[in-house]
Amino acid sequence: MQEVDDVLGRLRRYPDVEAVNLYAVDAADRLILDVAADALAEAGGERVVVIDDGYGALTLGAVTAHGLSGVRVHQDLLTGELALANNARALGLADRYTTHELGRRLLADARVVLLRLPRALSGLAEIADAIARYADPKVQVFAGARDKYLTPAMNDVLAESFGYVRASRGRQKSRMLLARDPKPLGSPPFPVRKQLDEVGLEVVAHGAAFSGPRLDIGTRFLLDHVRRMKPDARDAIDLGCGTGILAVALAKARPQVSVVGTDQSAAAVASARATAVANGVADRVRVLRDDAMTGVAGNSADLVLCNPPFHVGAAVHTGSAIKMFSETGRVLRPGGELWTVYNSHLNYRGVMERLVGKTDVVGRNRKFTVTRSVRGLRDVRQE
Ligand SMILES: C[S@@+](CC[C@H](N)C(=O)[O-])C[C@H]1O[C@@H](n2cnc3c(N)ncnc32)[C@H](O)[C@@H]1O
Repeated sequence: MQEVDDVLGRLRRYPDVEAVNLYAVDAADRLILDVAADALAEAGGERVVVIDDGYGALTLGAVTAHGLSGVRVHQDLLTGELALANNARALGLADRYTTHELGRRLLADARVVLLRLPRALSGLAEIADAIARYADPKVQVFAGARDKYLTPAMNDVLAESFGYVRASRGRQKSRMLLARDPKPLGSPPFPVRKQLDEVGLEVVAHGAAFSGPRLDIGTRFLLDHVRRMKPDARDAIDLGCGTGILAVALAKARPQVSVVGTDQSAAAVASARATAVANGVADRVRVLRDDAMTGVAGNSADLVLCNPPFHVGAAVHTGSAIKMFSETGRVLRPGGELWTVYNSHLNYRGVMERLVGKTDVVGRNRKFTVTRSVRGLRDVRQE
C-alpha cells in the first residue's frame, strides 16, 4: 500500500494556478487526517464524506491511510475538483471516491465528515446546515484551517447546527473545530433572496457565492457603464459571474442580448441560475461551471463583463484574473469588448492590453477603475 506521505508529496494543484507560494497540501490537511484517524478507520469508506478538499489531500490521504473506497466528495471549486481527479488518476486511486453536489446524496448516512473550513461564514453555514440535515445523527465533523483564516465566529456558525462544538489544540499554525450532535432544524436557510432596488433586480445567493445577496461596490460601478458597452452586441459573457448580477442586469437592459455566465464555484453557478429565473431572463442567461471559460468556443462573443477575483483560494494572487484575460482574448470576436472593474492598485491595464487589445480607462472613482479593452481586428487568434 502507498504511504500517505508519499501520496501527499505527489499532489499537484494543476489546473489551478501553480506558483512557488501556493501549495497543494498544508499543515491543516495533515492535522485533519491525524485527528480524524480513529474515526475514519472505524467508519469505513462509504460513511465518510469530504467537503472542500483543496486538491485531494484529505480524500486521497484518507483512502490511502485507511484503505477506504466509496468516499463521497463535494468541492465548491471546479479547479479543486479537477486537481483531485488528476491526482487520483496519477496515483491509481480514481475508483476510491465519487463526486456529488452539496445535499442529501452526498451526506446520507455519513458518520465522518472531513472539512476544509471555507473563508466565507455563509459558506460554512450552508455546509453545516446540510451536514446536520442529512448526515447520520452520530456524525462527527472534523473541520480545519490555517490559524490565520480561523475566526471565533466560525464556532458560532457551527453551533447553530450542532450541539457540541470544540476547538482542538493547534499544530503548525493550524487548528481544528470538532462538531457533533446535529440539532433539529427548520426549513433550509439557503439560498437567500434579496431585492436590490438600486439595480432593479432580485438576487438569489447560496452560502459560498461571492458577496452573498449583496451588491459588490465594484460590480455597482461597472453597472453604471452598461449603456456605453458595445451597442450592437448579441452574445455576451459574464466571466466569473458569482450570483449572476452582471449577467441578469445586462440581459434586462438589452433584450437582444444572450448571456453566458461562467464561474468555477458550484454555489455561484446555482445562485446565478436561480437569479436568472427570479428575474424572468432564464431563456437568455445560460450558466456554466467552468475554469475561466476554457469550455467556451473561440471567436464566439461580442462582449465580456468581468469583475475579476484577486484571490486564488485563500491567497492573494492575480493568477486567476490573468488566466481569465487570456481566455477573453481567445473568446472575443475581432472588435469585441472586454469591460472590467478592478481595485485601482492592481493596475491590470497592461496585462489586458497584451492579452486582449487596446485598453482605455473609462471610469475611475476613489477605489475602482473601469476599463474597456477592444480586441484588434488583425489579431485573430486560433482556437
Ligand atoms: C469578484 S467575484 C465577482 C462575482 C460577480 N461577477 C459579481 O460581480 O458579483 C469573482 C468571481 O470569479 C470567480 N472565479 C474565480 N476564479 C475563477 C476561475 N478560474 N474560473 C471561473 N470563475 C472564477 C469566483 O468564484 C467569483 O465568483
